[in-house]
Amino acid sequence: MPLVHIKNLLKDANREEYALGAFNTQNLETTLAIMRAAEENRAPLVIQVSEATIDYAGLASIAEIVKTAAKDILSHAPVALHLDHGKKFQSIIGCIKAGFSSIMMDASHLPFKENIAATKKAAEYAHKYGVFAQGELGRLAGVEDVVRVAGHEAFMTHPDEAAEFVRKTGIDTLAVSIGNVHGIVKMREGVPKLDLGRLKEIQKKIKVPLVLHGASGIPEKEIKKAIGLGVRIINIDTEIRMAFTDSLRATLGKDKNIFDPRKVLTPVMEAVEKVVAEKTKIFGSARKA
Ligand code: G3H
Ligand code: 13P
Ligand code: ZN
Repeated sequence: MPLVHIKNLLKDANREEYALGAFNTQNLETTLAIMRAAEENRAPLVIQVSEATIDYAGLASIAEIVKTAAKDILSHAPVALHLDHGKKFQSIIGCIKAGFSSIMMDASHLPFKENIAATKKAAEYAHKYGVFAQGELGRLAGVEDVVRVAGHEAFMTHPDEAAEFVRKTGIDTLAVSIGNVHGIVKMREGVPKLDLGRLKEIQKKIKVPLVLHGASGIPEKEIKKAIGLGVRIINIDTEIRMAFTDSLRATLGKDKNIFDPRKVLTPVMEAVEKVVAEKTKIFGSARKA
């Protein structure tokens, strides 16, 4: 079936109090694996691409891969396409033209008022086309290509500011910074604990669904508590990348003569699919489609 609008997925997730996984793809194989996991686990989910992926694959190519894979693979599970960490207004225009139903304007690196102005502009533009907009308030630590924030620079979302930010920007979903961290470093050096008290205060003050970025490595118990406190979208990238490259290394290391990309990439897709399937179970979205 074709891709669906994220608003329909969020409506169901809100009603039944579970979270949608938002999984990053960069290529054909990761896309197929995410779609297969969605369908096999009857899990509504979000597939997302970043600006780095748009630079890598080309917007038209990656968007068409996602749209075609959805038609090809999905009969039961609804999947929506989202722009992750849009920093350039041009990406937002391009993604909306390419059929995304949700975009993120990440101006979280800017001072509060400038973040509001940039996010409001993106949200107003998106809404003209019936597309949902995500904004981010507070800065996550971690380094991932275009998303670079040193640990000491990171700061957490303030509940009162969050309420003002949502009101003034008109966003549909809010990414919060509550101790969550992007990237690979936490997987090696330890995942910081979430500030769930802060999340509770944020939830009391705003009505839009909350988004938890940097969720790779966060223990199941904390994820479940965060869902209980209004998190409805959970972003996973690093664990997918690790599954992909660990499988690649293992396959190539085992057989020095292997040369058929399909033989190398089939176990890669299985490994990615396994990660996505496990996450949908933890997030409560499995068997909801
Ligand atoms: O949170 C950022 C995502 O993991 C995207 O990373 O910009 O390297 O594609 P990327
Ligand atoms: P991780 O790479 O830490 O899972 O974060 C993913 C993310 O937030 C994508 O926006
Ligand atoms: Zn993120």
